[in-house]
Amino acid sequence: MDIRLERVNMEFKTTKNRGVWRYESILPLKGVKERITMGEGATPLVRLSKEGNCYIKHEGMNPTGSFKDRGMTVAVTLAKHLGYRKTIAASTGNTAASASAYSSRAAMIPILILPKGKVALGKLAQSIFYGARIIELPANFDEAMKIVRSEYDKINVYPLNSFNSWRLEGQKTIAFEIFEEIGIPDFIILPVGNGGNISAIWKGFMELLQLGASDSLPRMVAVQAEGASPIVDTIENKSNSLITKERPETMATAINIGNPVNWKRAISAIRESRGIAIKVSDLEIRLAQQELAMKYGIGAEPASASSYAGYKKLLEIGKISKRDISVLILTGNSLKDPDSMLSVEKHIYTVSEFTEALRLLQRLGE
Ligand code: F0G
Repeated sequence: MDIRLERVNMEFKTTKNRGVWRYESILPLKGVKERITMGEGATPLVRLSKEGNCYIKHEGMNPTGSFKDRGMTVAVTLAKHLGYRKTIAASTGNTAASASAYSSRAAMIPILILPKGKVALGKLAQSIFYGARIIELPANFDEAMKIVRSEYDKINVYPLNSFNSWRLEGQKTIAFEIFEEIGIPDFIILPVGNGGNISAIWKGFMELLQLGASDSLPRMVAVQAEGASPIVDTIENKSNSLITKERPETMATAINIGNPVNWKRAISAIRESRGIAIKVSDLEIRLAQQELAMKYGIGAEPASASSYAGYKKLLEIGKISKRDISVLILTGNSLKDPDSMLSVEKHIYTVSEFTEALRLLQRLGE
């Protein structure tokens, strides 16, 4: 093992913490008394199959089922430390669920602005369940975000969207965990919505390099849905201003975003890392989601399966090889979106009698 890598590992190993707070020494949070934590992070890195070097970083295994919990533990800890009593977030669903759980745990009231009818059932149910005050807006996510950005400091509530850099500080620990487990991969592949997560993970890898722990960087691959692809369009057109999407539309509701707030950071992460930006269709996302479930037993919500759809497409066009070490970030659990899980071909047999059940059972067992 490389000596520098060993040194950083030693530093991490002096703490018994697992997950996000294991890396407290590289988080800019000092002197905070009460941590609002539920064991976020320390998610499994699962090798997809024996052939190829593709790994899944399963962020769906976090306390509320998405990577958002990594950012939320840091941001909500700070909000509590600063004495806030209420938080606010606009969301396509996962930020909503996470903000609600962490705010409630910190005895703060979560306020949410959600695009009506566009949040997956599991995420909406979580938000309600954790006690959020919810305003449903007859508009899309971008409009909801506009309200949060213009209003939050007028009403003295703490903003939990990813324009809040503290969220990104927590999320950068995804990079540290991957590094500790397998070193620096060739590619990190992830779905991009607001562009916060890709910037956060890139920041994490940059810090490892700056600390002298690593001596290389991965290439960052942004995957977006064809119907909501402002970042990919901006990269493909080599534009220096964002090419927004007026009416974004995709079944991957988590990333149904046309005007991402962190677009500058996301574009820099892709360009600086000599990365790739790629679009996938809703059909490709659906098939990737089903393949992950039925071939590998891995449950991803649609947006999260887009990393796999993107990976497959990049293999096909030869931009990535199976020999490359690729880590796909599975950003959210399949349980978030039961409707998408139920859209597969079903094998359900409803019987009216006990004997019919026995006959059927015999046939199924053959
Ligand atoms: N994957 C999932 C499952 C998400 O929920 C999100 C974002 C992303 C990917 C994209 O991450 O915005 O950092 O580029 N969801 C936000 C939300 C917008 O409100 O839950 P990003």
